[in-house]
Amino acid sequence: MDFLVTPSRLHDAVITVPGDKSISHRALMLGAVARGRTEVRGFLNGDDCLATADAMRALGVEIRMPAATDVVIEGVGLRGLQPPKSDLDLGNSGTAMRLLAGLLAGQRFGTTLRGDESLNSRPMARVVTPLTRMGAAIETDCDGTPPLQIAGGLALRAIHYEMPVASAQVKSAVLLAGLYATGDTSVSEPAVTRDHTERMLRSLGVSVASSASAVTLVGGQEPRGTVIEVPGDLSSATFPMLATLLSQDADTLVKNVGVNLTRCGVIDIFRGMGADISLENTRRYGDEPVADIRVRASRLRGGVVDPGLVSLAIDEFPALFVAAAAAEGTTHFSGLAELRVKESDRLAAMADGLRRLGIAVEETADGATVEGGRFTGGEVNSYHDHRVAMALAMAGTIADDEVLIRGVDNVATSFPGFRECVAGLGADVRLA
Ligand code: S3P
Repeated sequence: MDFLVTPSRLHDAVITVPGDKSISHRALMLGAVARGRTEVRGFLNGDDCLATADAMRALGVEIRMPAATDVVIEGVGLRGLQPPKSDLDLGNSGTAMRLLAGLLAGQRFGTTLRGDESLNSRPMARVVTPLTRMGAAIETDCDGTPPLQIAGGLALRAIHYEMPVASAQVKSAVLLAGLYATGDTSVSEPAVTRDHTERMLRSLGVSVASSASAVTLVGGQEPRGTVIEVPGDLSSATFPMLATLLSQDADTLVKNVGVNLTRCGVIDIFRGMGADISLENTRRYGDEPVADIRVRASRLRGGVVDPGLVSLAIDEFPALFVAAAAAEGTTHFSGLAELRVKESDRLAAMADGLRRLGIAVEETADGATVEGGRFTGGEVNSYHDHRVAMALAMAGTIADDEVLIRGVDNVATSFPGFRECVAGLGADVRLA
């Protein structure tokens, strides 16, 4: 599938975006191993989270969806998962694979985890290394990529793990394995990463200690089923926010968005570029802060993006690159080595896409320098990466001519209804 984007005049709008992907995955996994029923509202009904739901069903958990974004999970308890009849296919989802590796490392049965072409080329040593230290046995391909063959029947021991890369997926994998380990499992991170696992564990009654230096939990605690309300995904909200900022005079209110500080780097970086963004009606859904985000068309300017904000905005760089390309002056990005191992090599994919739209980009090993300019029309490749596709679609709304974006099927992994959502602002994004 391809998108055809026609330059569009945006208008004022009030919109919502689908539920948070990270929180939806965690709700399924933790609800599955909880004692009792968990009810999830505002669930992200996208391909990535549906792959996790299917995996949990294959592990013997009853999961019903009485409505598109409502999920009921009949928890089987910490020791209640059953051996699956076949390999678990996790599609495009790195979160599903890495978190499940942790959850499944301490089971009495073995499992094999696979994915699509993109996921099967992503690095898994980052979770295999700490899990092996805990006593797990996990085989990968010789280059450390999936499939993951996880052995069963091994006793896990608690470790203290100092993560070499800032990754919430690795932190979460170790904490989930820690539920099955004897003793105190703790993780420290080189930079702050999203803390949804810690918050959700607490809301399911598991005691987790967080200090400036580490997150710690005692093994053997069984989560208890609860009600989880999932906020809108700030990573998805970023795209309509970007289109609004680039527009002539639009004013958009994105309602009910998760604004956990460990995710808000994008707001800080946009504001540093001169964006007019304010948070209204700030409140909580359980342990997660939520707000309505008001964004107004803004004159963006380039500058040096603080590498200290990278882990707080890790998924938003495709959109931030588009903002930089539309800004006045030059923007310097660094500290982005992790972008090379996301759903695509996002540094290369965005440099290619922006160049094809007439923007000068100089790529470095861990970043890029982007010269602000005007987008010509043209044809670009999404490299089958949902966020690259959506970011380039937003560039198309202010381009001089139509933009054709190739290979956009994976937009459904994180943002089902993307086209309809941005149509609500007046953006003309069609299937070509
Ligand atoms: C996620 C963590 C991030 C992010 C991914 C979702 C999560 O990955 O890129 O989209 O839900 O924990 P890393 O933790 O590997 O950076």
